[in-house]
Amino acid sequence: MLLEIDNLSVRYRTRRGVLNAVDDLSLSVARGETLGLVGESGCGKSSLGRAIVGLVDLVGGTVRLDGKDINGLTHRQSLTWRRRMQMVFQDPLSALDPRKTVRRTLTIPLDVHRISTSAERHERVDALLHRVGLAPALAGRLPHELSGGQRQRVNIARALSLDPDVLICDEPVSALDVSLQAQVLNLLADLQRERAITGLFISHDLAAVSYVADRIAVMYLGQIVEILSRDELWHHAAHPYTQLLIDSIPGQGARLPTPSSVELPNPYEPPRGCRFEQRCPRAMPVCRETPPALSELGGGHVVACHLYDDIALRPSSAGKTWPIHEVTETTASRSI
Ligand SMILES: Nc1ncnc2c1ncn2[C@@H]1O[C@H](COP(=O)(O)OP(=O)(O)OP(=O)(O)O)[C@@H](O)[C@H]1O
Ligand SMILES: [Mg+2]
Repeated sequence: MLLEIDNLSVRYRTRRGVLNAVDDLSLSVARGETLGLVGESGCGKSSLGRAIVGLVDLVGGTVRLDGKDINGLTHRQSLTWRRRMQMVFQDPLSALDPRKTVRRTLTIPLDVHRISTSAERHERVDALLHRVGLAPALAGRLPHELSGGQRQRVNIARALSLDPDVLICDEPVSALDVSLQAQVLNLLADLQRERAITGLFISHDLAAVSYVADRIAVMYLGQIVEILSRDELWHHAAHPYTQLLIDSIPGQGARLPTPSSVELPNPYEPPRGCRFEQRCPRAMPVCRETPPALSELGGGHVVACHLYDDIALRPSSAGKTWPIHEVTETTASRSI
């Protein structure tokens, strides 16, 4: 695995108390793979992404890149290692310096890391612009002179300029119009294929995640509740929360209670047992008392849910014969 996250926790101290935004979470992403991270607003997705690249402090756990623990490095070491991981943020305008032209924005990382001569840098920036589908004439513009889609392309070009091994995209298309979302998602999917970049694609939009990700991790209130492959998503989603996310895709018709109709757990005092128990239509007495552990259903499919306590223990479960969630072909074949 190129990126390994073990028992990572992020905590915020606020006036209301201590909030565990990410709680003892483990994940890994293989080289060249894109892992999608999906979950509702406030479940801790951005906190996790930011902790991985060092923008917020971890209170516990490790982040390893290529086997190397990248916390606790000296400043100089950390520059080299962190250069290998780049992030694209949700809001393309605030991520750009309003006083710097596109060319300057794309040249700075090359200057800082002393990559190539100045003539080569010029060419490199031209090639980057070309690759993300921006006309060379835009190089002299300031961020406010660009459209939203163009700005996000500049952000993607900047993240690619240092040839990263890992690209973390945090809601990269949420601020864009629907038509632009498809273009930018296609660009990201193409880039990942071409450059074999290892990706973490964060979004609250399951349809967008399933479009670019090979595997999908579903997060609920600071924890992972299910990890499954893109192919398993539509017919083999095991966790009732994953099923709720699928059912809330427009056109599916909600078969489970919508989030607004039930009280969401207080993140300052998460429930003692399963955190989804209050909203779960299949909750059992054990769910209120005991937090479910992540257990393997076979083939890398893991789920944290007491419904599978028995199945997960049986070695024969690798055969995967519990299509407990059937959806229509429209959802299954849906693409952006
Ligand atoms: N700097 C901060 N200080 C205090 N609390 C924070 C801070 N940043 C985030 N939080 C809280 O931590 C929790 C997780 O926030 P985070 O931004 O990671 O969620 P998210 O899944 O990215 O949500 P969204 O989909 O809305 O972007 C939320 O309850 C949020 O209010
Ligand atoms: Mg976020």
